[in-house]
Amino acid sequence: MTFIAIENYGAKIHLKSSNHVTYFQPHYNRVLVTAHFHYVCKTVKRKTFLTAASLLAIGAASKKADASVMAEIPADTDDEQYWSALRASLFPLEAGKTYLNNGTMGITPYPVLAAMKESFDYVATKGAYPMHKDDLQNAIAAMIGCESGEVAVTKNVSEGINLACWGIGLKRGDEVIMTTHEHAGGCIAWLHRAKTDGIVIKTFQLGKNAEETLFNLEKTITKKTRVIAVPHIPCTIGQILPVKEICAMAKTRGIKTAIDGAHPPGMIQFSVKDIGCDYYSGCLHKWTLAPLGTGFFYISKDVLAETRCQHVAAYSSNEFNMSTNPPQGGTLVDNAHRFYYGTFCGPLFDGALAAIKLYNKIGPERIERRARAHAEYLQNNLLDMGSKIQVLTSTEARSRGAQIGFRITNSNPKASQEFCTQMGAKKIVLRYVGENAVDCVRVSTHYYNNREEIDLLIKELKSYLG
Ligand SMILES: Cc1ncc(COP(=O)(O)O)c(C=O)c1O
Repeated sequence: MTFIAIENYGAKIHLKSSNHVTYFQPHYNRVLVTAHFHYVCKTVKRKTFLTAASLLAIGAASKKADASVMAEIPADTDDEQYWSALRASLFPLEAGKTYLNNGTMGITPYPVLAAMKESFDYVATKGAYPMHKDDLQNAIAAMIGCESGEVAVTKNVSEGINLACWGIGLKRGDEVIMTTHEHAGGCIAWLHRAKTDGIVIKTFQLGKNAEETLFNLEKTITKKTRVIAVPHIPCTIGQILPVKEICAMAKTRGIKTAIDGAHPPGMIQFSVKDIGCDYYSGCLHKWTLAPLGTGFFYISKDVLAETRCQHVAAYSSNEFNMSTNPPQGGTLVDNAHRFYYGTFCGPLFDGALAAIKLYNKIGPERIERRARAHAEYLQNNLLDMGSKIQVLTSTEARSRGAQIGFRITNSNPKASQEFCTQMGAKKIVLRYVGENAVDCVRVSTHYYNNREEIDLLIKELKSYLG
């Protein structure tokens, strides 16, 4: 069997022969190619082959390859071969696994792993302490459409939710509106504040479309409402909420908005300025495919001064002197950096930066289109299955992202959960959503998924339903 090896980080592409290539083995300066990819290369035209080869070089993942070879990715392609090549070259996911659980975490691509390794190696070999730099927060700010000084890098969404929750000045009896579809990370901070500070949590139901959701929300607003804290995309059924209209509704009433943005970054394109929220807590390790444990907190500069910052340390402030009497403390920095402080894992940040670069290179528009098209395709098939399936995610185009939630409605009350478990045993990874009594199967799609994988899931579901 012939295989291709990329050496020298893609600067040169060598074609070699081997009889024994049955696995995909990445090293950081050498990539052996899967039989699957070999098939792709053999069957595509020369032009596509060069593109595919360049994708392999991305897999090789040096900064050199990133700069020189990624530019060769064609501007326009819906070509399955292109996406197959990309999947084979960028992702370590084991062969035969159908991964449809991006809503929990994305698969870390090789360039991200490579950036982390390089960074860990650098820290260890040079004895170099990772200083805070602006490059990651700059990249996040560009991605979500705000100023760099409005972004703090966090370890996860829950951290951002907590920064907003405990940062907003609230008194006993003040009301916070949330949905009935919150994730633990989205609601536990608020529920705890209700216990400790006597704020009141009110909830509303998601509608079957944006208009109905807005109607339900508006009915819940009272004179005591101080905050609307809702997910941009709930983890349960993946419906995109009309956050721009929600924020506009809030603003005219002087209500603060804190958006849980666990799912949208890397899935759908958006701008926090366009949304008009006060706070937005995002995840980087889901659709953005950054390392686990990376996220961000956006805080509009308009609310920075009034937001309490309870946890502070080095980088939150530049001024202190404990040798004077009394000891001197200074002011906090005049930007979101006050919220992230102390020693951090530089290699994780470097991995996150590599992920955002990769996202930008492949193309946010193209990624979104493909991930959403998979979900639409799945939803249409589910709708065709009739009454044994209840599709929970809105069919409205603007409300449907890259996640579909559905419930199996046969006589077995545990059918949805059982189906997820059975699929797990067959290497099809789904998420059963039992929390908030939602009881559904959640399927999350990304650009590395393909039609055959969705078809496989549909086939399995039909067979399960009998
Ligand atoms: C909607 C939503 N909010 C919050 C979280 C918590 O995220 P993290 O674990 O990154 O803190 C998740 C995690 O999946 C989520 O889906």
